[in-house]
Amino acid sequence: MPVPFIDLSRLVSRIREDVLPAWTECLDKCEFVGGPRVATLEKKLATTLGVPHVVSCANGTDAVLVALQAVGVKRGMKVALPNLTFWATFEAVAQLGAIPVLVDVNETDLQLDLDQLKSAYDAHRFDAVIMVHLYGWTSARLGEIRAFCKERKLPLVEDGAQCFGVETCGEPVLAASQIATLSFYPAKVVGGAMDGGAVTMASAEHEKFVRSICNHGRSDHYSYAHVGWNSRMGGINAAFLNRVMDEVPAIMESRRKGAAFYRARLADQKKIRVYGPPDGVVENGYLNVLTVEGKKGQEVVDALKKAGIGAARTYPETMDAQPPAKDAGTIVHGDMKVSRAMCERVVNLPLFYGIREDECEQAVRALLEVI
Ligand SMILES: Cc1ncc(COP(=O)(O)O)c(C=O)c1O
Repeated sequence: MPVPFIDLSRLVSRIREDVLPAWTECLDKCEFVGGPRVATLEKKLATTLGVPHVVSCANGTDAVLVALQAVGVKRGMKVALPNLTFWATFEAVAQLGAIPVLVDVNETDLQLDLDQLKSAYDAHRFDAVIMVHLYGWTSARLGEIRAFCKERKLPLVEDGAQCFGVETCGEPVLAASQIATLSFYPAKVVGGAMDGGAVTMASAEHEKFVRSICNHGRSDHYSYAHVGWNSRMGGINAAFLNRVMDEVPAIMESRRKGAAFYRARLADQKKIRVYGPPDGVVENGYLNVLTVEGKKGQEVVDALKKAGIGAARTYPETMDAQPPAKDAGTIVHGDMKVSRAMCERVVNLPLFYGIREDECEQAVRALLEVI
């Protein structure tokens, strides 16, 4: 039997009987934009993530965009971000007319590299930073990155699209963030029934701003404090997400188990390097990330697919390799050795809620045939 890269139906089948009556109620009450279920979701997220304020929005890309606006990023300002991330992180900067300053990632944990960030600051004096908690863990130097930004009064936006459930120092990774973002794209660790996102914040002032700017910049129904966006969540998605939130412990258990299985099973393979969280960080099992010595990632993935294993490559290209990066006036700091090499070689084995051990074993066996 083939093993899919992801199978959302394993979670959906578990919650569907509870979601259907909630959706019927949304229809009956015409709870389409905003409403009590959205407010409940924001409260649940704040409690689970240990953050004081949460505002939901239409997707995780908008969340980064409005978080940047909340910290004062405007046209012409420079914003540092990692060269290895999903394109949306870059897009949010470019959509505001700000100048992306691309910084390489760390060779060990694959997160924004602090030494590179420091030298990029010396060279380019950027105005704000986005760090991405990529792949289901975070930087070994998260505390130092936060301190570096704080000392220089640089706003730090944490793109948390992939980090729901990640823990550092025994608490949720976003608990100590100033402002961070979430994506509820269906394939995420906590995924919705459609696109969705949220901004989490330490300050009430930021909450007020984000709530307004996601709702056309309203100060009252037909009065406007800002030129904003239409980026809101509705009852249908909130009802689904509220039910998914109840499954967070089971989701974490299942994903972490899969991630740990691959790590343990491949530990003695000299040609395979499985990446994972640094000491003190608990991963969420969002992605399995590995490289095979002497092989291009695409070669490995093609062979795995032929063997019926739904492998993927997150990500096959860096930000600076994308043609529109040039139009955005992007500054590329340094040689980008780590991010480029990673994109050339990265492979992801299947990992999702409900994946069985025999499926992981099948993926491992196919991989061992390939190398
Ligand atoms: C790191 C990162 N940032 C931003 C986003 C954008 O989120 P969305 O797809 O909800 O717009 C994603 C996911 O898709 C992501 O992985």
